[in-house]
Amino acid sequence: MNTLLIARNEAVALVTIDRPEKLNALNRETIEELSDALDTLEADRSVRAIVLTGSGSKAFVAGADISEFSSFSKEQGEQLARVGQEKLFDRVENMSKIVIGAINGFALGGGLELAMSCHFRYASETARMGLPEVTLGVIPGYGGTQRLPMLVGKGMAMDMLATGRMIKADEALRIGLVNRVCAPDELLDACMKIAQKIAANSSSAIAEAIKAVNAGMMDRKQGYEQEKISFGHCFGTSDFKEGTEAFLSKRKPQFG
Ligand code: COA
Repeated sequence: MNTLLIARNEAVALVTIDRPEKLNALNRETIEELSDALDTLEADRSVRAIVLTGSGSKAFVAGADISEFSSFSKEQGEQLARVGQEKLFDRVENMSKIVIGAINGFALGGGLELAMSCHFRYASETARMGLPEVTLGVIPGYGGTQRLPMLVGKGMAMDMLATGRMIKADEALRIGLVNRVCAPDELLDACMKIAQKIAANSSSAIAEAIKAVNAGMMDRKQGYEQEKISFGHCFGTSDFKEGTEAFLSKRKPQFG
C-alpha cells in the first residue's frame, strides 16, 4: 500500500490516508487502496469499528486530485463519479461496521464527501470544511449534493454548495455536520474511545441498525420496512440471546 496506513487498537482499525504532501487528495490509487482496505476490514470479524483520518496536522482530505481530472471529457467526468461513488463512497456508507470520520484539518470537496459517507464525524478545532467545486466550474460528484442536505438541511446545504465557502469546526458542530469538536491532539483519542465503546456492543445489531438507517435515507417507507425485517432478524442471532440473558442475570454481555 502506497497511500494508506492501517493500525489496530484491539477491535478498532485506524485507517489513515497518507499523502500529506498533497494534503491527502484522493487520486485514483488512493481510492483503489481505500476500497480494497474496506473490503479487508469488512471481512475481518475481529474488526468491529473503524476510524478514518488524514495524515499530518493540516488536512483530512483536501479533495479529489484536481490534477487527475482537469482534462476529462463529459463522459469521463460522469464515469469518474460513477466509479468513485460505487467503489468508495457508497462502500463506506454501507459498511456493516461503524466508520467514524476524524476530521483533522481541511475536508474539502471529495474530502468532505468522504467524511460525510462515514456514519458520523468528530472534528478538530482546526478543521475547515466545504464543497468548493463550483469555484472550479463543477459540482460535487461523490454524493455531496445528496448527503450534505441530509445532514444539515437543504437551505444550509445550498448556501455551502453555491458559495463554496469553508466553514470552521464550531459552525459544523452547530449545523450538525459533525457530532463533536476536539482539541487537535485529542481528536484521535476521542474517536478511538467512542469506537471502543461501539465495539463492545452487538456487531450484528449495529449492522442491522446501519442497514435500516441507510434504507430510510434513500426511501422513508423502505426504511420502516427494513427496520421491521432487521428487528426480526436480530431475534435469530446469538448476540440477542447473549444480550437479553446477560441483562436478566445482571451481568455484562460478551458479544461474539
Ligand atoms: N488536488 C490535487 N492537489 C492538491 C489538492 C487537490 N484537491 N489540494 C491540495 N493539493 C496539493 C497542492 O497542489 C500542493 O501541491 P504542490 O506542493 O505540489 O504544489 C499541495 O497539495 C499543498 O497545497 P497548497 O495549495 O500549497 O496548500 P495551501 O495551504 O496553500 O492551501 C488549500 C490549502 C486546501 C486551501 C488548497 O490546497 C486548496 O484549495 N486545495 C484544493 C481544494 C479543492 O478545491 N478541493 C475540491 C476538489 S474537487
